[in-house]
Amino acid sequence: KVRIGVLTSGGDAQGMNAAVRAVVRASLRMGAQPYAVMEGWAGAVAGGDGIRPLEWDSVSAVLHRGGTVIGTARSDEFRTWEGQMDAAEHLLAHGIDRLVVIGGDGSLTGTDEFRTNWPRLLADLVAAGRLGQEVADAHPTLMVTGIVGSIDNDLVGADMTIGTDSALHRILDAIDDISSTAASHQRTFIVEVMGRHCGYLALMSAVAGGCDYVLIPEMPPAEGWEDDMCLKLAKGREAGRRESMVIVAEGATDRDGNRITADDVSRAIEERTGETPRVTILGHVQRGGQPSAYDRWMSTLLGCAAAREAVLATPESEPVIIAEHHNRIHRLPMMEQVAATRAIKDLVNSRDYEAAVRSRGGS
Ligand code: F6P
Repeated sequence: KVRIGVLTSGGDAQGMNAAVRAVVRASLRMGAQPYAVMEGWAGAVAGGDGIRPLEWDSVSAVLHRGGTVIGTARSDEFRTWEGQMDAAEHLLAHGIDRLVVIGGDGSLTGTDEFRTNWPRLLADLVAAGRLGQEVADAHPTLMVTGIVGSIDNDLVGADMTIGTDSALHRILDAIDDISSTAASHQRTFIVEVMGRHCGYLALMSAVAGGCDYVLIPEMPPAEGWEDDMCLKLAKGREAGRRESMVIVAEGATDRDGNRITADDVSRAIEERTGETPRVTILGHVQRGGQPSAYDRWMSTLLGCAAAREAVLATPESEPVIIAEHHNRIHRLPMMEQVAATRAIKDLVNSRDYEAAVRSRGGS
């Protein structure tokens, strides 16, 4: 029987449970045995109860729940050779040489390193007397399938990653709530949203929330932006708006790469207008709560496709990411997509913003 490990890694995201559920049930339907690797890679490193067989009912009543019921972590031990040897040994103790990994680009990069190291890890385990040569020969490669789970929506090739839509809903709920108190006092609010190096959540929530100004890492404002922002806020008030709202991505910077925080924005407004704005940092509220309908159905489709990929994989198969693009489920070459994602981050970090926008197909 084919045995498939499923794990969630990195920051949790609403919809991960739907993906896990789909992987489990689709694998069972195809005659495979799914296993949960608990707490991300930490479960593989720890072994024992960290790797558990799953049945149809194991994933009942999880579709609507936020977070991930099989746990997630950023495991430092897994980054070490010894940790990876432990993980390989424990996976093979259950006969698992296929994995579906649901996580961000960092998790998928770690997964590919583990996959590349696999033959040498097994050789070291055999040399240390921890693994029989016949077991190593029966599992020459680790077959991996990735699904991008991250509210940041930062993977090249995927239109939306798991959790992004739900996080946007959470942000919009907060913006709507803040609007009424802001309007009552005729106040300006600065709202900081998550996204790490990616401005997607900030930009889309600013558009969907009808906000006045937005700062994102991919497009640092030109010098004098503070005056420009205050002018726009003033125009809004002149036009009859009772409230003003500025969205700041947590990764926003100026053109020299210095971080622009919500407090910096607030201070700039206060200095120029005399108004004392209020700052709201939304934080992990954005990652919590129930997944949206979109995150439930998309993650379900991704999970089904990933299970199929894992069941049919052969030792020669290249690792793939299953992602939604143009309303279709696609198989994408894992390392190319991760490398392209990294390249954009490097361009943004090197402050070559025009090149970063061009490489995303923008102008
Ligand atoms: O990558 C998802 C994310 O929520 C980012 O938007 C944020 O920067 C980070 O994770 C927060 O990480 P943690 O949960 O470890 O504080």
